[in-house]
Amino acid sequence: MQTQGRSVGVVGAGQMGHGIAHVMLRAGHSVVLLDTTETLVDAGAKRIAKGLARDVEKERITAQQREQALARLITATEPAELAGADIIIEAAPEKFEVKAAVFHALEPHCRPEIIFASNTSSISITRLAAATGRPAKFVGLHFFNPVPVMKLVEVVPGLQTAPETIEQATALAASTGKTPVRVTDFPGFVSNRVLMPMINEAVFCLMEGVADAQGIDNVMKLGMNHPMGPLELADLIGLDVCRDIMLVLYESFRDSKYRPCPLLEKMVAAGWLGCKTGRGFYEYPRQ
Ligand code: 3HC
Repeated sequence: MQTQGRSVGVVGAGQMGHGIAHVMLRAGHSVVLLDTTETLVDAGAKRIAKGLARDVEKERITAQQREQALARLITATEPAELAGADIIIEAAPEKFEVKAAVFHALEPHCRPEIIFASNTSSISITRLAAATGRPAKFVGLHFFNPVPVMKLVEVVPGLQTAPETIEQATALAASTGKTPVRVTDFPGFVSNRVLMPMINEAVFCLMEGVADAQGIDNVMKLGMNHPMGPLELADLIGLDVCRDIMLVLYESFRDSKYRPCPLLEKMVAAGWLGCKTGRGFYEYPRQ
């Protein structure tokens, strides 16, 4: 498959969406970045421009490559503007109804051969695929935060995904320099099925007073060589996202070991969602 110079649609200009657009542009692809308002797509485009400037500083790309990459970026607020894409990667909020609505809005504008991919962190790919008119052309492409830095992409075929769809999605992920790992469509895939219960257990340790937040994070950083402690990482991911993923695991497996910790629930209710709201397990001064 041709891996250079593809046209990639990215839906959602937030933390994950702008990161995915950034790595696609850096790899030589064209990107149409879609969000619901000009303000949101412009903010995403600004973050991409800043990220590419950092890439020049770090000599990952030249200044000329940055200019060329930015020239291949188009921002959009209407689904019809993604009609020319070869593949569309959705990075909308982590709710089935929201994601299904995104694909419904895109479907009438997109040729049947266009691949739809979802960056969902835990929603069933099989179920999302079934909500579209192209289940064989539907696949999960799960990137990690911060996208420009993390080397993994989970490639998640649904039950109905065609082999050539998996191949093309895998090739696209590999073209960005990341390592695609194929996993079966099962709740939480591999990443979040292992990571989220660890984060949840760290919140239980905090709630039960086993150690304070810094103590818990230090144990995992210094004792297990994790780059970040589980509570710092929860703040980076977003406490609402962690709670939602625990709920998907809990409801899918119907196993109480996945119940979200009451302290996690309480912090989400308080609006203490981590870095993005300025307060989670730690405080983040507004810039
Ligand atoms: N956004 C973008 N870039 C960031 C960043 C952020 N939030 N934080 C750090 N970086 C960049 C830095 O700019 C730096 O880039 P450079 O090469 O241009 O200088 C690079 O990352 C390394 O940063 P630092 O040297 O400042 O710091 P560290 O060496 O401590 O690395 C880290 C920071 C990469 C975030 C590291 O702590 C880490 O790997 N943490 C774990 C992250 C992780 O587990 N992510 C997965 C989350 S789970 C997920 O996304 C799945 C979802 O479904 C929930």
